[in-house]
Amino acid sequence: MQIDIITLFPEMFEGFFQYSILKRAQTKGFLSVRLINLRDYSLNKYGSVDDYAFGGGAGMVIQVEPLANCIEDLQKQTSYDEIIYTAPDGQMLNQSLSNTLSMKENLLILCGHYKGIDERIREHFVTREISIGDYVLSGGELAAAVISDSIARLIPGVLSDEQSALSDSFQDGLVAPAVYSRPADFRGWKVPEVLLCGDPKKIEAWQYENALERTKQRRPQLLEKQDM
Ligand code: ADE
Repeated sequence: MQIDIITLFPEMFEGFFQYSILKRAQTKGFLSVRLINLRDYSLNKYGSVDDYAFGGGAGMVIQVEPLANCIEDLQKQTSYDEIIYTAPDGQMLNQSLSNTLSMKENLLILCGHYKGIDERIREHFVTREISIGDYVLSGGELAAAVISDSIARLIPGVLSDEQSALSDSFQDGLVAPAVYSRPADFRGWKVPEVLLCGDPKKIEAWQYENALERTKQRRPQLLEKQDM
């Protein structure tokens, strides 16, 4: 999969893509990430790409022309399955959307900044708008990083069997069960006996019950969405 990200701050992504699973996905050849600096498409020598909003009001708007030129330049080399704009008024990111996006080949993510991007880009280029929560971030970079991470770990082959994304929270509509590691007894705080019994069927049944119970307690609205 290729993820191209148009941003005013490519440096913000550098550490993020160089560690852990995102790094491994790239090293193993499952993921390729390209950061495109929108300032390279500035119409002036100062590198600015924003202007005042028509009609007034506080805050600058990312101009239509540099962004359109940038997207069209990228489209000459790549046919995108989705052009995603990160915005607080977009569709809420969830595991189901991440699963859908993980099956695509080429994604382009536009990071907003200031008051946002000129609406004409949303109308004429963007195929999907995604929010990562009901709060306003200073820019779309964190949202683009969150979206990329949640997608990349689902690409088949990226995670090993032990880390399988199938046991993630939300993957089966439930939050994940509690996990424990050695020692089995720490200050008298004991790991549930069944996890030490070695019987995979009993362990699986306990994990399912635990996940169900935790979902009821912590995220009951997840259960309302399914026929249980
Ligand atoms: N840009 C600013 N806030 C955002 C949010 N909550 N989700 C996605 N993009 C954003």
